Amino acid sequence: LARPLVVVGSANADMYVELDRMPKEGETLAARNGQTLPGGKGANQAACAARLSFPTFFVGQVGKDGNATMLRDALQTSGVRLDYLNTVSGPTGHAIVMLQPNGLNSIVIVGGANTAWKKRTGSSTIPVQAEETIRKAGALLLQREIPDDVNIEAAKYITVLSPNETELARLTSMPTETTQEVVRAANKCLDMGVKQVLVKRGVQGSMLAKADESPILQPAIPAPAVVDTTGAGDTFTAAFTVAILEGKEPAEALRFAAAAASVCVRAKGAIPSMPNRKAVDEVLKHEQYV
Ligand code: RIB
Ligand code: NA
Repeated sequence: LARPLVVVGSANADMYVELDRMPKEGETLAARNGQTLPGGKGANQAACAARLSFPTFFVGQVGKDGNATMLRDALQTSGVRLDYLNTVSGPTGHAIVMLQPNGLNSIVIVGGANTAWKKRTGSSTIPVQAEETIRKAGALLLQREIPDDVNIEAAKYITVLSPNETELARLTSMPTETTQEVVRAANKCLDMGVKQVLVKRGVQGSMLAKADESPILQPAIPAPAVVDTTGAGDTFTAAFTVAILEGKEPAEALRFAAAAASVCVRAKGAIPSMPNRKAVDEVLKHEQYV
């Protein structure tokens, strides 16, 4: 049996407000539509991997409310193992997703249960059984929406560094606008001891850098219409990881991930738009003849 994928991270109720444009300071703007959908970077990555039929555990926290039920249902339906999804008192984390007509978004997150991790016996915040599962995992995916302590504790076992351009700029204090700048900043991460850096650049595609090897560039695979990019980066990360765990070569894994992300942007919602394997294969099939 394959070593499972474990995601330790956030689950959010994504509260969408669909806007014609972003509000100005001090302005009150009416949204065209509002809707709550399952999301959160951790939950997104777990849902995507499971939909690609890879055995996946999600270690996270939700509160005691209807949003928790919505997230549990969405994750369960996607096939995610929820043995280590903890329920705490108080509200589930949520995100305000301001969605513009071009499918691009601005997101504000409210931590809720995602930031309410408590120390257990000893100094550990992660349940003992979950730790055991992490130790046996093929890969561990982390994001930055839960306390750093918990991430650092989980990262003792295995790590994957996959920042987007903004996160890479913050990590390195370097510019990351052009491809050349991205390569330079990724090299700085390699110098700091990271083994592989996978940079996600939205419509500009992605880049995988390893020490002593020339970086591999993968262009984004276009979608007929971009409806909502929320969760596209999470889809990319999860699909890439699944492909690598299945033994694909890095270049092929990048292409698989680009196809998965291209499916995600075609429909509204993060988890609701995550592809299964058939959808990814369909995109790849057509891609070959472009
Ligand atoms: O990466 C997209 C996600 O970021 C959204 O689903 C939102 O919940 C925030 O976590
Ligand atoms: Na989407």
